[in-house]
Amino acid sequence: RTVDGGGRYLLPGLIDSHVHFRTPGLTYKEDWEHGSRAAAAGGVTTVIDMPNTLPPLLDPADAARKAAMVQGRSLVDYRFHLGVAGDDPSPLLDATPREATSVKVFLAGHHTAPTVVRDPASLTRIFGYARESGLRVVLHAEDDGVFELLDSWTGAPGRYLDYERVRPRSGAIVAVAKVLELVRRHGTAVHVLHVSTAEEADLLAAAAHAGLPVTFEVTPHHLSFTAADSARIGARARLSPAIRHERDQRRLWEAVLAGQAATIGSDHAPHTREEKLRPVADAPPGLPGVQEMLPAVFTGMRRHAPWQSPGTHLELIARLLAANPADLFGIDGRKGRLLPGRDADFVLFDADTPWMVTGAAMHSKCGWSAYEGWTMAGQVRLTVRRGQIIYDADAPGTFGPPDGRWLDAARPATPAHPTRGAVR
Ligand code: NCD
Ligand code: ZN
Ligand code: ZN
Repeated sequence: RTVDGGGRYLLPGLIDSHVHFRTPGLTYKEDWEHGSRAAAAGGVTTVIDMPNTLPPLLDPADAARKAAMVQGRSLVDYRFHLGVAGDDPSPLLDATPREATSVKVFLAGHHTAPTVVRDPASLTRIFGYARESGLRVVLHAEDDGVFELLDSWTGAPGRYLDYERVRPRSGAIVAVAKVLELVRRHGTAVHVLHVSTAEEADLLAAAAHAGLPVTFEVTPHHLSFTAADSARIGARARLSPAIRHERDQRRLWEAVLAGQAATIGSDHAPHTREEKLRPVADAPPGLPGVQEMLPAVFTGMRRHAPWQSPGTHLELIARLLAANPADLFGIDGRKGRLLPGRDADFVLFDADTPWMVTGAAMHSKCGWSAYEGWTMAGQVRLTVRRGQIIYDADAPGTFGPPDGRWLDAARPATPAHPTRGAVR
């Protein structure tokens, strides 16, 4: 079939290196069918899924088992971040690149993260093993010790700062400082996820500048919302790490526009409407975002750097959301680059036609969006994965075949900064 691009932008298929598709064990929140449809509708052709499932993904054999579960259900290609248990990180030593090129470490507690590692001795071992096995450590960097300290001072557990909903900024900053010390000692390559504060961005940019092998991710929601929106949106905007202030958001935009942030990841973490109807402090943190990511980031770029052209913005998006994640996680070099005909993962994006987000247009199983009522500046028209149309805005409700593949990977190079190339 011939497709007329009709003046739209052609982008490489995006790689979302941070999704929680909830398989196995939490499929009442999200499942691979719905999650991958949301991805396809968002211009994403490859996802890397997080290990905080029930049970969690803790060793290479779990990765193979999970791949078997996902096979035949996914519109998009996939890989997994390996999880790790603090009391026995030895499976890290057995992981081949096929199974994992990265290990996810949660430094703070969460109801779906039974693999939280707080003990310094365990962290030392994990960073050492990861270094030995060539695994990149991807981190949820928040520090429970800081939260407990604040709780003990205020006598109001979990409610230290109301707008930040249980997770004050100091917990994230302290965690990043500790991580940088581990990196300095072990030389392990680290990618810090969902950086939310100006201070984290400052610390990480300085460390990278000094030659430490550290990179970081920012999320569409930390780029889109501030504490003021959070108060308005309520429990749906409850997240870990929390949505911060306007000055933090400005610093995150600076990190994106200046090339300090290596990736944008959606942190697509759906919870049901019912779960989010609870009082804010009891609602589980997390929101969906894989479908909203590309339009939200594009819209934000138009607003925060209006002097640049839409084409410049989409080139930056291709770097942060395709080329860089491919480099960091050893995904086939043909992925993440615009090479139709060889790998043929691509997206047609209409940068001229605004649209309004509704819950009904969302494909995630949770059926809601924190962006409801937002006007997005551009829209995904067509998504092609390995030469097959998997999403077509002109054929609503129909999707391509669910024959996404578990991608093999090469052990990634571990440069301090991923390749800085634009669309290739
Ligand atoms: C995530 C989830 O629900 O799995 N929640 C969130 O607020 N981001 C966990 C996580 O990414 O830390
Ligand atoms: Zn996290
Ligand atoms: Zn996450």
